[in-house]
Amino acid sequence: MTHRSRNLAILGLQWGDEGKGKLVDLLSARFQNVVRFQGGNNAGHTVVVNGQSIALHQVPSGALHPECFLVVGSGVLLNLEVFRQELDRLSQRGVDVMGRLLISAKAHVILPHHIALDQWREGGAGANKIGTTGRGIGPAYEMKAARMGIRMGDLKHPETLVDRILPGYKEVRILLGPDASLPTPEAIVAQLMEFAKPLLSCIGDTQAHLMDAEKKGESILFEGAQATLLDIDHGTYPFVTSSNCSIGGLFTGTGLSHKSIGNVLGVAKAYTTRVGAGPMPSELLDATGARLREVGREFGTTTGRPRRCGWFDAPITRHAVRTNGADGLGLMKLDVLDGFPEVGLVIGYRNGHGELSANLPSCSQDWLDLTPEVRMFKGWSQPTRGVKSLSELPTEARGYLDALMEIVEAPIAYLSTGPDRDEGFVWPGCFLDGVI
Ligand code: GDP
Ligand code: IMO
Ligand code: MG
Repeated sequence: MTHRSRNLAILGLQWGDEGKGKLVDLLSARFQNVVRFQGGNNAGHTVVVNGQSIALHQVPSGALHPECFLVVGSGVLLNLEVFRQELDRLSQRGVDVMGRLLISAKAHVILPHHIALDQWREGGAGANKIGTTGRGIGPAYEMKAARMGIRMGDLKHPETLVDRILPGYKEVRILLGPDASLPTPEAIVAQLMEFAKPLLSCIGDTQAHLMDAEKKGESILFEGAQATLLDIDHGTYPFVTSSNCSIGGLFTGTGLSHKSIGNVLGVAKAYTTRVGAGPMPSELLDATGARLREVGREFGTTTGRPRRCGWFDAPITRHAVRTNGADGLGLMKLDVLDGFPEVGLVIGYRNGHGELSANLPSCSQDWLDLTPEVRMFKGWSQPTRGVKSLSELPTEARGYLDALMEIVEAPIAYLSTGPDRDEGFVWPGCFLDGVI
């Protein structure tokens, strides 16, 4: 028997924006390495310290802990212009990461024509709009799969870059037409190298770094971006992102094996949100949905778009718990439900024939047929905002959480009652007990 690794993976269980940033920041104090392994600057992870909020897009959310080593793994996409802006913003706040940052030589870069293609598709008349973040994520991953991408390690050979980007660039030109305003390949490379210059010394072998770190007994925190329902295989395809944001992406995006995972903390809000198009059976298009959006400040960290809001959707979250083998839940934003006279929990869906099921359809058309089956709970009059122990929770809130845990088949490990680091608590007796 081998003993379990003490490394921890933090993964989103809904459609993103669950509060992963808060938990990664909170837990980073206990880990020596924090790793992003997929996604790009479509992610927006918010960290709040003493009321001051910082949004991180590509820099791992352990950044505020000076003793934390930051790793950008091979599965990540980098927009170097945005990355540099993020580093500058951190530096203005007195946070310097340059001496403790390693970027995988295998991580791919997002180029201007990827962004142009993403926005062209999304802007097309009545086309199959996904409601992407417009950051070039889909096209950059497509180029990677088509073997036409540029990796960070390639930046060490700038003289080869124009030839390397040409095949992909030409394809985008054909699609966008001769009138599209794109910089020339030479200009793209010149700008890329300008942004890359101070980062060249941070490029290296992140797989070897992580393996060596483990050998030395150092701990690793894996920071998921996006979430299971946005996973290209296990999400609500085609309304998904273009990476594997559930547990499988961690292995391909770091080069580590399953032995490197200790526990998996799945993050979910106490209700549901989604940005962009696609099925969301629990969506509330009424005043209750508007109130969730207003109280929860549900506007995108990356694009500022209003998020669609609804009651907690147990079937999707249970699917995500199972897909990731989540050992426990980071349940976030319970405080947003304070003051609602009633709180709903979607326990299953009825199809067009009236049949009730808690399983998810695998075909996009079948989602359109579903009506949510909602169980209502009495709300709580005493606020949960800032609550730091189980004994302080109102009885009604406890009843709601007990039902939620039972139906998603996972225990709560951390309950969050506000955006700041000290608003929330570790659930007694869970695997995080004693860790924070
Ligand atoms: P991420 O993408 O999963 O990191 O989540 P985002 O940062 O995009 O969105 C989560 C938002 O909720 C951020 O603005 C957080 O500051 C905020 N937040 C996190 N936990 C709590 C909580 O328990 N209560 C409240 N009210 N806000 C929270
Ligand atoms: P974090 O890490 C919420 C959504 C977009 C769109 C779909 C595809 O902050 O939780 P893309 O630009 O990736 O091709 O868009 O995925 N999306 C997110 N929604 N949180 C995110 O990240 C997201 N990243 C992508 O809104 O519906
Ligand atoms: Mg976010």
